[in-house]
Amino acid sequence: MNWEVKFSYQVLSDVYLKGTYASIGLNQTLSKEKGQPVNTKLITKIVYGVIEKDISLEYIIEQFLTKTPPKRIMLLLKMGVYMHFFLNSLPDYTIVNELVNLAKNSPEKYLAGLVNATLKNIFSSSIQLPKPEDDFIKYCSIKYGYPVWLIKELSQQYSPKELVSLLSTKLTTDTHIRIKQGKEKEFHQLIKDHEIRFSASFDESAGYVDYFTLLQHPEWKSYYVVQGCPSMIVAKNMPDSSTILDVCAAPGGKSVYLAQLQPQATITACDLYSHRTKLIDDFAKGQQIHNIKTVVQDATKSNLEWKEKFDGVVCDVPCSGTGVIGKKPDILLNRTPDNLVELVNVQLQILDTACEYVKHGGTLIYSTCSILRKENQDIVQQFLDHHPDFHLKKVNTYGIPVIEEGLMVTFYPPISKTEGFFIAIMERV
Ligand SMILES: C[S@@+](CC[C@H](N)C(=O)[O-])C[C@H]1O[C@@H](n2cnc3c(N)ncnc32)[C@H](O)[C@@H]1O
Repeated sequence: MNWEVKFSYQVLSDVYLKGTYASIGLNQTLSKEKGQPVNTKLITKIVYGVIEKDISLEYIIEQFLTKTPPKRIMLLLKMGVYMHFFLNSLPDYTIVNELVNLAKNSPEKYLAGLVNATLKNIFSSSIQLPKPEDDFIKYCSIKYGYPVWLIKELSQQYSPKELVSLLSTKLTTDTHIRIKQGKEKEFHQLIKDHEIRFSASFDESAGYVDYFTLLQHPEWKSYYVVQGCPSMIVAKNMPDSSTILDVCAAPGGKSVYLAQLQPQATITACDLYSHRTKLIDDFAKGQQIHNIKTVVQDATKSNLEWKEKFDGVVCDVPCSGTGVIGKKPDILLNRTPDNLVELVNVQLQILDTACEYVKHGGTLIYSTCSILRKENQDIVQQFLDHHPDFHLKKVNTYGIPVIEEGLMVTFYPPISKTEGFFIAIMERV
């Protein structure tokens, strides 16, 4: 029994069959199996590798099958093809044996022979991939592992050259953290003494760190918080306020940072679900933050008590997550073009509702971790067309290069070297 293959299969079955997030599935499986001497790096590589290459793997496999097999069998085939073509860790006979055994122990054991024959056939054949000159969209989809609908969306926004540059950008695998105010000096001394890789993003209070090594020191957890660079920039752009409302606040990244930046302010942090507002409560408590109050509230439904009550309102809306695919490749597994239509409706509804809560002279911030125009510039423009009492204001990007359109900014991975993100700041006259 190869434990790495078995555990990767366990995690991936949860991801593909139950919709579990890969990061959560990995944590659960690895902590349950703590007794086993397993190579966790290899398991992580197989899990994320299969998800990242999902589309390419399916394309290869479909050339060797006449009909689509059940999901579990398709997953075993994807794992086999991934390990053969992209991972040089296991010999082919081990890959086939392990996966055939897993098939034999699955409810579809009658298809173990198919797994055996298909993998051997693929491993001994030459594979044809689409050529860019024949079908550029299909070529990009297979080569970079993005679904055709998303490549089509992106190709409406970017030239072929820009598109390839976007799809092939590899961001650092280090994790972006912000160091707690007042702890900067001590933290930098600690990581220097322990030779932990760190590179500052906009100043010494934030940067990319070798998180795997940092986690070997749980005693330093009070010195920092994991938070993306553009997410920090949202909070840093909020003018000094007495009352701030964050309408889509869980798990609390921006609210908690706002509460720390503006200790004089009262932050009302909302989310649609109580299990999500609890995440904000727990996060705030862990950070000894006392100026956040959480409320379960659907941001698409108007709360009349809040009309013109807030100096600042943040709408960090639910989105396609297309800006963070590099870090969370499982985002793409369950997204469809229909989801995008639903999301766009909700985003506009949230902005339309939240704007009523802003005092005259107050600030409304709209942000997403998407790079799709439909969720970003188009939403803000539609909103502004119907709300002449709001106008755009300049975003301070703290020196990070971005794409600017009017006064709206997109953190664009090839030039910003951060995840994709969008920010628009509006003021109510
Ligand atoms: C992008 S996340 C917010 C991240 C958060 N601002 C942070 O910095 O940690 C979007 C959040 O919106 C919530 N959400 C989705 N639909 C909502 C709605 N109709 N009303 C309020 N919250 C909603 C989701 O539960 C999710 O927690």
